[in-house]
Amino acid sequence: MKPSNTSTKSSALVADWEALQRIFIRPESDAAKEALLKYMEQILFGLHDFLQKNVGITEEISLKALSDNFTVTAISPHPEKKLADVITDLIKNIAPHAVNVASPYFIGHMTSAIPFFMVHLKTIVAALNQNVVKLETSKVVSIVEKQVLAKIHRLIYKKSLSFYDRHVQNTRTTLGAFVEGGTTANLTALWVARNTVFPPKEGFSGVEEEGLSAAYKAYGIERCVILVSRRGHYSLRKAGGILGIGNQNVIPIDVDAHHRIDLDCLKTEIDKINLTRNTRLIAVIGIAGTTETGSVDPLRQIGEICKENHTHFHVDAAWGGAVLLSDKYKHLLDGIELADSVTIDGHKQFYMPMSCGMIYLNNPEKMNVIAYHANYVNRPGSVDLGIKSLAGSREANSLILDSALKIMGSKGYALLLDHGIELARKLADEINRRASFELIMPPELNIIIYRLCPEKYHEVLSGEDSEQKKNINKKLNAINRIVQRIQREAGRSFVSRTTLNFDSTPENEIIVLRCALMNPMTDMNVLNDILDEQEEIYNTRFSPDSGSI
Ligand SMILES: Cc1ncc(COP(=O)(O)O)c(C=O)c1O
Repeated sequence: MKPSNTSTKSSALVADWEALQRIFIRPESDAAKEALLKYMEQILFGLHDFLQKNVGITEEISLKALSDNFTVTAISPHPEKKLADVITDLIKNIAPHAVNVASPYFIGHMTSAIPFFMVHLKTIVAALNQNVVKLETSKVVSIVEKQVLAKIHRLIYKKSLSFYDRHVQNTRTTLGAFVEGGTTANLTALWVARNTVFPPKEGFSGVEEEGLSAAYKAYGIERCVILVSRRGHYSLRKAGGILGIGNQNVIPIDVDAHHRIDLDCLKTEIDKINLTRNTRLIAVIGIAGTTETGSVDPLRQIGEICKENHTHFHVDAAWGGAVLLSDKYKHLLDGIELADSVTIDGHKQFYMPMSCGMIYLNNPEKMNVIAYHANYVNRPGSVDLGIKSLAGSREANSLILDSALKIMGSKGYALLLDHGIELARKLADEINRRASFELIMPPELNIIIYRLCPEKYHEVLSGEDSEQKKNINKKLNAINRIVQRIQREAGRSFVSRTTLNFDSTPENEIIVLRCALMNPMTDMNVLNDILDEQEEIYNTRFSPDSGSI
């Protein structure tokens, strides 16, 4: 056995039937109960201490050194550790080397701090261990799920009360579904869209049954496409691949200076498709909060274009969807109610633990095109939620969202969402105030992109000489790549970076720094520290006598 790095005594542990049974039964005595409570305390407060103490992202230890500790490939025939020792090991040896996404200084990604009560809710979900694929393994939990889906559906689509009375617990209709994340939600939406475009007809039993090549033959076409802006999440290309459409047929449409889809380019592409006759448009996607820039596409206009062209309108609101809870900022998602389907992630701005995605459908009959039945479960007309879901077995995430909505109320969530959006605006002002930075665009939601751009370059960048601009952008790309890496490796704070292109010309690409501001503990003091550190890295690494750029 590889030596363990915990203090476990080597008194032999054995796998025996009696011991095995003990781990399945309820605490059989006060002493056992006490031991279990002690472990829970260790989990809640041991990890809590770690999250409080460590502001950085990881401790200074290389990935190589870490991976050298994890090379054991044999499963031990005998138990190696007791539960208490495993918990201590996780808290002392694993957690400190995990990424402290809860730090207010961790602002580079869409994964951040979650309210502490989420840990309790997640524990209940694990303890109940309901399987929402079918009623027989979840009963009331499937019904709670339908209710919470109706609550979020109402937030998006604002239909009449009688509509919700009719559908909230209707076993034949589906307002939405819980899925693993935004990727699966997008895939499900496009699966629905594809099957809607190629329904059964005489001599053809539908694309789901016969496949795409039969569908193309039956409908006299050679190709189908999906349109989304250049800022579309890569999960959409995955969906193109999985659905047999081909990921190159998920066509990127150019964006404007705010990284929103360019409507003229979109219309031109649709006209081109309509002219070819051998190509079928499956869906147009609008994004409510692009991953890289936080931009919101003009949803209302895209919705109208889709209506004119009788095509499925999907909104990827994985990031921005929760903003509908904010009375102050929900107007930023104007037009989302025109969508045939909407993706929202629970583990993003609903502050849920990993992982939870959701898909919502304007028409509650729409998901019938992806229904599957089996003899032993998911019988037609049953409440079994697995009938219209890509996943089979899955956990009861709906209990977490339903409880969180009760604990926070929409006003509680709105406080968080408003904080993020307003903080992004303040950060934008600060970036504009500092001569060594350039704000790439004013933030729409709570994602902000900017770059280090020393004052000496400002004049050329605002001029007309495109060759000179290209050269300076090249230098700035190198500077920003290096500063971001040094800051990340220092481990005090984390800002991410991305490469942006407006069209298909690689020479026009720029590297930018990117922040997603959702942690309520992140404030302007923290953000000023982060900007100061970036300036300091730049000054040290690129000072005139350092010989660098
Ligand atoms: C706009 C958007 N759509 C989809 C996704 C994919 O979501 P997930 O990582 O939950 O699968 C993301 C993830 O960041 C996203 O930002």
